[in-house]
Amino acid sequence: MTRKGTLYAIGVGPGDPELISLKAVRILKQVAVVYAASSTKNTYSLAEKIVSPYLKEGVRVVRLNFPMTRDKKKLSQAWENNTRQIVNSLKDGNDAAFITLGDPMTYSTFGYIMRAIKQGYPEIAVSIIPGITSYQAGAAAAGRVLAEAEESFAVISGALGAKKLKEVIAHADSVVMLKVYRNFREILDTLSHLELGASSVLISQCGLEGEKISRDLQEHNGSIPPYLSLLLIKKRDR
Ligand SMILES: C[S@@+](CC[C@H](N)C(=O)[O-])C[C@H]1O[C@@H](n2cnc3c(N)ncnc32)[C@H](O)[C@@H]1O
Repeated sequence: MTRKGTLYAIGVGPGDPELISLKAVRILKQVAVVYAASSTKNTYSLAEKIVSPYLKEGVRVVRLNFPMTRDKKKLSQAWENNTRQIVNSLKDGNDAAFITLGDPMTYSTFGYIMRAIKQGYPEIAVSIIPGITSYQAGAAAAGRVLAEAEESFAVISGALGAKKLKEVIAHADSVVMLKVYRNFREILDTLSHLELGASSVLISQCGLEGEKISRDLQEHNGSIPPYLSLLLIKKRDR
């Protein structure tokens, strides 16, 4: 029986092509197929752009389609189809990579693929190569400490609004909020209500063309930031 290939999940970092690990680059130079996916917006083209200098000649780059829907049935169907496609390409012993913006274990479609492989194809070897997350790069760009000494910090999503922020800020010293663009108005209002606006920083397009670091959130009154935007929120601004 032919040995099946390994699937490597590779975090390519948040945008700056130099923020990728040596291990990721080594594996990218070896694999026969590279899968890129995104459930939201068009981030696969960005992940592809980041890895393009590191791919061996003739490598196949395949875009996996994930529908932009909350319909669980449609989503799980898409994950199953995409997983089957990946697994089929590993059958002849070739290795493949699944690339993801930032880190594969942080708000990435890879989580769904990994679960589908574990359930349906437990014989497939999966190896995960971490990436620098968007918020680590954002904290560095803004010169903001996420946590020190006895402090704690939480990472949340703004995809469903600001409710989570109100709950979490009661227990953490610092909060990182990803996916802020859709409910940005509501999130800004909540920050101002909690008197956290002045100690919050918005980072957009970190490491990419058009990078913007806003320390005065009022300047965004009425305008929505790009999809690649995150907030660093601190109870006390040191
Ligand atoms: C689906 S999540 C992907 C998170 C990614 N896996 C990570 O490790 O950071 C997409 C969200 O990540 C954040 N993000 C990713 N790249 C970014 C960048 N270059 N600049 C600012 N925010 C970014 C934004 O909040 C965006 O809405």
